[in-house]
Amino acid sequence: MALGLARAGARVAIADIDAEGLAQTARELAGELAPGSPAPLARVTDIADAAAVEALFDAIDDDIGRLDILVNVPFAFPARVRPHELAAADWERMLAVNLTGYFLCCQAALRRMLAAGQGSIINIGSNAGESALGRGALPYGCTKAAVHQMTRELAVEYAGAGIRVNAILPAQTLTPGLRAHLETPRFRDHVLPRILAGLPQGRLLDPEDYVGPAVFLASDAARAVNGVLLPADGGNLAMNAGGSHTWPA
Ligand SMILES: NC(=O)c1ccc[n+]([C@@H]2O[C@H](COP(=O)([O-])OP(=O)(O)OC[C@H]3O[C@@H](n4cnc5c(N)ncnc54)[C@H](O)[C@@H]3O)[C@@H](O)[C@H]2O)c1
Repeated sequence: MALGLARAGARVAIADIDAEGLAQTARELAGELAPGSPAPLARVTDIADAAAVEALFDAIDDDIGRLDILVNVPFAFPARVRPHELAAADWERMLAVNLTGYFLCCQAALRRMLAAGQGSIINIGSNAGESALGRGALPYGCTKAAVHQMTRELAVEYAGAGIRVNAILPAQTLTPGLRAHLETPRFRDHVLPRILAGLPQGRLLDPEDYVGPAVFLASDAARAVNGVLLPADGGNLAMNAGGSHTWPA
């Protein structure tokens, strides 16, 4: 989405807790820019850390000078275990990153967007926030459901100030992490067919699938679109199945 927004003309700053992955994305982002453009701001940040988030947005102020769009993407999923086995620390970490982190970034962005009288916030939700997936998804699903509600509340709260807040709801996506799972026979033979049964297009989603929705929601073409939970899931939620799959026996 960072690359796609840059291609659509946005000046993009990126942040992640993973310095190596961030540097890789920054290199790809620089490749999208016209020769001679300033290097994109890329800042290692833990979005669960309020002071770090404030420092990130201050750096964006210094680097770009205005903030029109926020896309909240990160998530932590330290343990995919059955709920009765979940360690309290893992539950707390998921809440801290997936919910509090999103809220802290929304707050920092809202303060700037209120001063400017406009802005578009896009939270990345999940099909897991609208349907139950099983497979240890409980804490993740709870945080995503809360992000969906946060999206609606903020949309209503700030509509009069020219700020729109929407969410994109992906489904199971072929990310590098999932690509690694595909190598294992257990996943390929037992889990993948269950996932695909919930994806009526018959394919996993691709990160590129979210670029169009993000550019649309960020743009004036979506000026009346506010408080929407937009599935970009190939029809997963329309099936009301959510790709539901229990633990393999
Ligand atoms: N991949 C899927 O199948 C899928 C399905 C539905 C929704 N989503 C949502 O899409 C978004 C991206 O998921 P992804 O699959 O690309 O995952 P990913 O693991 O590739 O990306 C998540 C990123 O968040 C970063 N991160 C983790 N903790 C952080 C923190 N405290 N501060 C800052 N950055 C932090 C990670 O380093 C990583 O780069 C998430 O919000 C996820 O819930 C993904």
